[in-house]
Amino acid sequence: MSALTIVPWVIGNWKMNPTGENVQTWTEQFNQLLQQQPISNESCHLAVAPTFIALSQVQHAFSQYNRTVHTVAQDVSRFPATGAYTGEVSADLLKDSHIQHVLIGHSERRELLGDHSEILRAKLTNALNAGLTVIYCVGESLTQRENGQAEQVVLQQVQDIASVVAPDQWASNIVIAYEPIWAIGTGKTASAADAQAIHEKIREGLSQITDSSAKVAILYGGSVKPENAKEFAACPDVNGALVGGASLNAESFYHIAAAFAQSN
Ligand code: PGA
Repeated sequence: MSALTIVPWVIGNWKMNPTGENVQTWTEQFNQLLQQQPISNESCHLAVAPTFIALSQVQHAFSQYNRTVHTVAQDVSRFPATGAYTGEVSADLLKDSHIQHVLIGHSERRELLGDHSEILRAKLTNALNAGLTVIYCVGESLTQRENGQAEQVVLQQVQDIASVVAPDQWASNIVIAYEPIWAIGTGKTASAADAQAIHEKIREGLSQITDSSAKVAILYGGSVKPENAKEFAACPDVNGALVGGASLNAESFYHIAAAFAQSN
């Protein structure tokens, strides 16, 4: 089963970067590039995930654009609603701030911040209850890949959330990002063929869970750059990119987005 025509997503994950001044330069440059050579809403969804403190600055800047660029939270609390949870930001508070998208399950949070599957299910439940769209990240480590376990690990990570996503929410509120951990920030990428093979398996796995598997966007992430974006964009089951390092530069991010928009 392959993907129906899915509008690709290109999402910048700024991680714990940049400062307010850089944010302003970035959003101005990106807007200029979009004005010189527009990328239509219909050809590519665009989104950026800044730190919590920059969310409203970025959101305000994007509201001046001629096209939609979504602002994405990098995380959400496992605790519901509001309450005495110092340091936390709930899904309801994101929604109140008109943030409609959130990353959940990024490998850095899984590996460095203890986000295990039970926590991820709680975060996902809260996000879905608030009506947010979740970019749910999956991916294997180098050891798992070398042991031939990549497919099994990734399918298990998808299966981990099956109990908390209603069948009709898969197509409307879930985007999957396949990010092999060994390719994140390392300059190494999965080959386009390897990415396509895993994406196909993910879609097959999804078809056991939902009738909408052909409509779920599956993004690739891990050292995506302007130089390799076209190869990934040409894969039938790679429906966009989650971009870390290269998204910190507005021009690089623009060229990656353009590659996916043109493939559509
Ligand atoms: P990278 O990061 O593009 O710097 O490899 C991707 C990610 O972590 O989302």
